[in-house]
Amino acid sequence: MEQRKILITAALPYANGYIHLGHLVEYLQADFWARFQNLRGNDCAYICADDTHGTPIMVRAREMGITPEKLIANSWEEHFKDFGDFQIQFSHYSSTNSDENRKLCEEFYKHMKEKNHVSRKTIKQLYCNHDKMFLPDRFVKGTCPKCGSKDQYGDSCDVCSATYSPADLKDQHCAICGSSPVDKDSEHIFFELNHFKEYLQKWLPKHTSGEVKNKMLEWFNEDLRPWDISRDEPYFGFAIPGENKKYFYVWVDAPMGYVSSTLQWCQKTGRNFEDYWKSDKHELYHFIGKDIVYFHTLFWPALLKAADFRTPTAVWVHGRLMINGEKMSKSKGTMVPARCYLNHLNPTYLRYYYATKLNSSLDDFDLNFEDFTNRVNSDLIGKITNLASRGAQMLNKKFNSIMSECDFDGLKLIHKFQRQCEVIESYYEAREFAKATSEIRTLADEANRYFDEKAPWKSTDEAATQKVLTSTLNMFRILAIYLKPILPVYSAEAEKLTQEKPWMWNDLQKILTNHKINAYQHLASRIETEKVKAMMDESQKINQEISTQRAKSSTASTATVAVNAGGGTSEIEIDDFMKIDLRIAKIVNAEAVPEADKLIKLQVDLGDGKPRQLFAGIKAAYKPEDLIGRLTVVVANLKPRKMKFGMSEGMVLAAGPGGSELFILSPDQGAQPGQRVK
Ligand code: 2FM
Ligand code: ZN
Repeated sequence: MEQRKILITAALPYANGYIHLGHLVEYLQADFWARFQNLRGNDCAYICADDTHGTPIMVRAREMGITPEKLIANSWEEHFKDFGDFQIQFSHYSSTNSDENRKLCEEFYKHMKEKNHVSRKTIKQLYCNHDKMFLPDRFVKGTCPKCGSKDQYGDSCDVCSATYSPADLKDQHCAICGSSPVDKDSEHIFFELNHFKEYLQKWLPKHTSGEVKNKMLEWFNEDLRPWDISRDEPYFGFAIPGENKKYFYVWVDAPMGYVSSTLQWCQKTGRNFEDYWKSDKHELYHFIGKDIVYFHTLFWPALLKAADFRTPTAVWVHGRLMINGEKMSKSKGTMVPARCYLNHLNPTYLRYYYATKLNSSLDDFDLNFEDFTNRVNSDLIGKITNLASRGAQMLNKKFNSIMSECDFDGLKLIHKFQRQCEVIESYYEAREFAKATSEIRTLADEANRYFDEKAPWKSTDEAATQKVLTSTLNMFRILAIYLKPILPVYSAEAEKLTQEKPWMWNDLQKILTNHKINAYQHLASRIETEKVKAMMDESQKINQEISTQRAKSSTASTATVAVNAGGGTSEIEIDDFMKIDLRIAKIVNAEAVPEADKLIKLQVDLGDGKPRQLFAGIKAAYKPEDLIGRLTVVVANLKPRKMKFGMSEGMVLAAGPGGSELFILSPDQGAQPGQRVK
């Protein structure tokens, strides 16, 4: 059989968050598939990278007081380690913030422009005057126009699931600082998706599943709208050549990461990049989740086509992970970080369990922890590992670890196991992992029945016993080979037991006889329910800590000027400084804003007898009652801002990194409310 050359990708995880069990659905199934292909002797590369650009990453880095480069470097290390510890074997794991990726974006853009696939249009967008940036949908919050739920994001309502544009939200406010955004014009660059309408209409049915195709073709009743590919500064990303302060939208350079990561891998391994991305010579598959189908089956093939690159052989879409029947939730602790799982449980269990659930459809699937525990304990430990532990230990003890021949019944069964390989292969090939594991489980049941019927522990016929043990171990060995794409570490331990070189798929056809095995070493133990509970408790704690941390770290940018001695602020003229009216203020009242994580509402007296209201992000640092009566320094001539909780008519000055470490400024004794600070 001719060796297939295959390139697969999994969606690039964002660099501003941890990998959780939901992400792993995709990385694991792609890993099972790649390993299966390679075991069969094909050449399958598994490519991925961190998705490092965009507003959320820029804002997150700012909140943490680090550069985006530092943030993405930290994430890369964490993600890479998490994947490795889950036995996910990438051929190459890169970052979208690479020179190769920048050059490819520029090359694609050049093609698009040369062939007149770009246009320009001035659009209105919400802009935060305080943060000096246009606000992406997720950075606008407000009241849902449909059901009236408060504090919903600008694109959809978590309560009634309505989708809308941020302009439709009532009581809009900036998710970063709380102030009301304004409409602002800006010229954007668009990719003319409609130029590819006919191409895509023909492409979709051939390269996506029926479910996906039907969904996507609904868009084709009308013209396909131009796709906005530019973003204004401030933005963490790649500058668009020939433009002033405009950047490629992250969704341009993210899928490009598939290409640039492949390029790096080709350079590393001496392969020909053009064979992978410029011709249809090899196979190319994208594994993705159903929420990003639009990007991968419309924009991405059109971009590739525009730049004379090849388009994918297929885009394979999976459903979402539910936990205990519900959507994952940070507050319930069900959004379990990969690292938290690893702190308590063996990754082999999750790999096995996911395989028992995964198929090629878009359906969501449920990780129910009780079912997880039962399934792993009953199949992997009770049915499969037991064969090895009982068979091998008896052979170690009674027969000096030496296998003999197989008995007649055993051999018959072993042949049956071997014949099943076509069925199991076809399930693996079709990403029907649940069906593949179900076949393997059925074989394991037969092996156990055989072992129990032969009851070698009772037999007094030594030679017959040795044969039964030989047959049993051969059956276990075949099961372990079948499971190798899913359980590589487990199978490697089994290879040690049978003292063989790493198995390939066709080692299935071999039968071990007159062969010495190793002393049995523990392969896997049962899942203890307390460990699952401990993992959930830790996950809840981690998520709580992260949200408190985020609330604290964004404090500094919220209605408070944090004076940063090391900050790289550029010089200003004395006149600029004089424009700031700094005044001594007496805090006459202070109360925490219950709905806001960080804010305290202050009434301050500036000596004119007309108390002003302002909000300061100092909740973590001060108790409101301790503030009453204190003198402090405020910016008195700041344009009043409408915030979610009312008008803010000034700003308190404070120093420190944020959170509980913020220190409001106080004058020496003798200063009076209203006095100017110069
Ligand atoms: O949805 C996401 O998590 C994105 N980071 C996926 C990017 S996939 C690809 F296009 F890069
Ligand atoms: Zn803002």
